Formats: sequence, C-alpha cells, structure tokens
Amino acid sequence: MSTQQHADIPSEEQRKAEEEKREKRVAQTLGKIRYKIMVMSGKGGVGKSTVAVNLAAILAKDGNYVGMLDADIHGPNIPKMWGVDWKPLQSGDEGIRPVEVLPNVKLISMGLLLPNPDSPVVWRGPLKHTAIKQFLGDVEWGDLDFLIVDLPPGTGDEPLSVAHLIEGMDGSIIVTTPQDVALLDSRKTVNFSRMLKIPLIGIVENMSGLRCPKCGHLIPLFKIGGGKKAAQDLEVPFLGQIPIDPEVVQKSDSGTPYVVAYPDSEVTKVFEDIAKKCKAFVESRDKEGKKDKK
Ligand SMILES: Nc1ncnc2c1ncn2[C@@H]1O[C@H](COP(=O)(O)OP(=O)(O)O)[C@@H](O)[C@H]1O
Ligand SMILES: [Mg+2]
Repeated sequence: MSTQQHADIPSEEQRKAEEEKREKRVAQTLGKIRYKIMVMSGKGGVGKSTVAVNLAAILAKDGNYVGMLDADIHGPNIPKMWGVDWKPLQSGDEGIRPVEVLPNVKLISMGLLLPNPDSPVVWRGPLKHTAIKQFLGDVEWGDLDFLIVDLPPGTGDEPLSVAHLIEGMDGSIIVTTPQDVALLDSRKTVNFSRMLKIPLIGIVENMSGLRCPKCGHLIPLFKIGGGKKAAQDLEVPFLGQIPIDPEVVQKSDSGTPYVVAYPDSEVTKVFEDIAKKCKAFVESRDKEGKKDKK
C-alpha cells in the first residue's frame, strides 16, 4: 500500500489542526452565551420539545436573545414546531447561519440539513458527537442570553455529547408524564444529571390531567401528581404541572408555539411560571458565584 497522501484526503495533522480550531470555536461560542440549559426525559413523547420551544418563546418575549440547539439528531422535531422545516440553511462569513424563527430566537437542527423530512439519519455515536460539535463551533450564534438544548429521550449518545461539549452547562430540566413507567425512567435522567454534575433545575410534569371542556373538571388521564412526588422523593425542585390541551398539539403541528398563539391561557400561565423558575435558578447560581463550578 502506498504511503503517499492523496491530495483530497486530509492528513492526520491537518485533521488534528482542524479539530483544534473547531474546539477553539466551540469555546468562543460558549463564551458568548450567558446561560445554557438542557431539556431531558427518560421517555419519548412526554413533551420535551414542546417544553423547550415554549420556554424559548417566553424567554424571547421577555427580551432575551435565545438560541435553540435541537440535539435530537434522529428525530429533529423543533423546526416543524417553529414552522420552518422547509427553510434551507445559509452560510455566513463565519459559518452556518442559524434560522431566525423569531427576531430574537435562532435555531439549528439536523432537520434543517436533511434532503427531505423523511430521510433517516443512520449515524452512530461518534458522528453524532461531531454534528453536535459543529452545531456549536460552526454556527454563527452570536451573543445569546440563553441556549436551550433539546435532547432525544434517555441517557445515550446525544445527552452525553452535549454534557461533555457544553462546559459550564447551567442546568437540566427533566420532563415527565405522571405514570409510573415514565417516572421510573425520569429518575434515571435525574441520576444522569447528578453523575455529570449538571445542576438540576427541576422536574416538569407534563400531560397532567385533561380539563373537561364542558364542566371544567380535571380528568386524570395519565394520573396526576406523579412528577411532583418524584421531585419530592429525589429532592429535586418541582417546576409545575402542564395539563393536556388539544391546542398544544394543534399549534405545535401548525408551527406556532402554543404560548405565542394563546398568550393569556391557563396553560400559558403554567409555562410562564416554569420559565420564571428556570430563569431564577440560573440567575441565582450566577449571583452566588456558583456558575461554572461543579
Ligand atoms: N400538554 C400537552 N397537551 C397536549 N399535547 C401535548 C402536550 N405536551 C406535548 N403534547 C404533544 O405530544 C406530542 C409529543 O410531544 P413532544 O414535545 O414532541 O415530546 P418529546 O420531545 O418528549 O418526544 C406532540 O404532538 C405534542 O404536541
Ligand atoms: Mg422531542
């Protein structure tokens, strides 16, 4: 076999130099982001992406500059939830330009890179790690108050990559539904966060009862209160109970965050309260000088 390097294939040294440059860019990007928050869950379909999108919309409405990093590489739903799944990415002077979903909300997602929405991403861990690194180092995020990272369920490749790449993660939000099976998995997520020394902002109990449109009674469709109990048992702050509202699905499918479409609803008040608690958590750690300390 010839030892001569093919002109188009980068040498080991070139690859290393490129990697070092990217790592520097990741550090530069993170240096311009005030607070970094990740949204996790043990199970799929419990409402992580819904919580992430509505949290970003509320923080933006309060005047914050927000970035959304959709780290769900295999199931990137965030673009659809913002109504931009068709939007092609553009390159800027310093890298990929994230899509502006609101004047002060920028988004990057694998979903924006796929040739069509049905293309599967058949990647193993190392490639996903590189993609997430590029989402941080090769994207023109600019100055941000918050970076919200949406994750796939569980404690696999993507959460691990995010936890390792984003040094100084300010906190994790665990989303669960109230059933025992979902709770069992969310306990694992709490322990994952603890193992990686990521401060636990708290647990959100989503799909917590369905308000009967006729009589107003709260029907405990998937039980009620399980997330709150798990938070008490695990000594994690409890952030709130979001009821089931068919309009959450409607708005998500039509590409408008629920809280933007219904700014005065009961469910929006719950989202706002959760956002307030998240903001207070990261700001108080910052004030106490605990930020960036493990
Ligand atoms: N509180 C809620 N009421 C009604 N539907 C909800 C609620 N939260 C989430 N959903 C819907 O449930 C589905 C799964 O939510 P999603 O946020 O994609 O979950 P995950 O990111 O955990 O997989 C979506 O169709 C979403 O619109
Ligand atoms: Mg999701």
